[in-house]
Amino acid sequence: MIVLGIETSCDETGIAVYDSEKGLLADALYSQVQLHQKYGGVVPELASRDHIRKTLPLIKEVLEKSGLDLKDINGLAYTAGPGLAGALLVGAAIGRSIGMTLDIPTVGIHHMEGHLLAPLLEDNPPGFPFVALLVSGGHTQLVEVLAIGQYKLIGESLDDAAGEAFDKVAKMLDLPYPGGPQVAELAKKGKPERVVFPRPMTNRPGLDFSFSGLKTATLNTVEDAKIEGVLDEQTRADIAWAFQEAVADTMVIKCRRAFKHSGMRRLVIAGGVSANTRLREKLALMAKQEGGELFYPGLKYCTDNGAMIAYAGCMRLLAGQQDDLVIQAKPRWNMETLTALEN
Ligand code: KG4
Ligand code: ZN
Repeated sequence: MIVLGIETSCDETGIAVYDSEKGLLADALYSQVQLHQKYGGVVPELASRDHIRKTLPLIKEVLEKSGLDLKDINGLAYTAGPGLAGALLVGAAIGRSIGMTLDIPTVGIHHMEGHLLAPLLEDNPPGFPFVALLVSGGHTQLVEVLAIGQYKLIGESLDDAAGEAFDKVAKMLDLPYPGGPQVAELAKKGKPERVVFPRPMTNRPGLDFSFSGLKTATLNTVEDAKIEGVLDEQTRADIAWAFQEAVADTMVIKCRRAFKHSGMRRLVIAGGVSANTRLREKLALMAKQEGGELFYPGLKYCTDNGAMIAYAGCMRLLAGQQDDLVIQAKPRWNMETLTALEN
């Protein structure tokens, strides 16, 4: 089965073609970062309008890259939620309409399921079951994954998502949006241990996260360290280092607990923040210490992309699932309510 995947849930238009026999045939991504940068974050209405401009040209580009014609596509997948309502509607309307016109099965995919399955596109994919740490701009979740669609939420952030915390700290350090990669880059120049932040919610039992206290601690440190309103370069880098270290250590502690809680020894990290190399390093070490293994997507499939949607769609369509003739956009959507596929 050859599936066209469409991702438009936030500020990236992602398109891909996935072949169940040959794997990923082609993909393309258009990032709206430039468009939103001057506002310091995503402006939903601008995002929707840009998806309208970019989706069809990108589909054309991906079909050309894969040497296929639209009539060679026999399955269609689009991101149905969660995400920005208007942005989702663009992908849903275009995806469902192409599906109807070609008379091929079409399915709306849960964005976080896409992230969660992205490591299965790699050469050494994790087998089921596994624990997944989903860390994106909108979500921080620990999930027990028994099979595709069999998800049990065992922990989540009570306030900011990890990516959101990175983005806010980036602003405090005068770094442009999206801040995660910029904070990570600046942290490379940081001197270890000059600044140390708390590892939030690790003294209490449980698998939930909270990043608001860490964010406030970072803000206070930034303000205190300013001399006549200016932060010197080394202190900026030291704060970036300390923040990243606190987030990574917190995740290591929670993931170690999740291993104990679930009895599982495979850990998947996915979503934008899983691109963070320090986090990967620390989690890989922890997994090894516990006799387990860490899996993550290739760098370009950590952040939003069409390949993960095409892949998740292909798995669901092959299992016989498909949607009625409806355009669905679900800005809020609980992963635990998804239809389970047999393992
Ligand atoms: O998964 P994603 O592309 O979009 C959502 O579904 O939200 O995640 C975007 C988030 C942003 O908050 C961005 O700052 C963060 O992922 N991010 C990173 C890194 N690369 C992206 N955070 C920390 N380190 C990185 N290297
Ligand atoms: Zn995402």
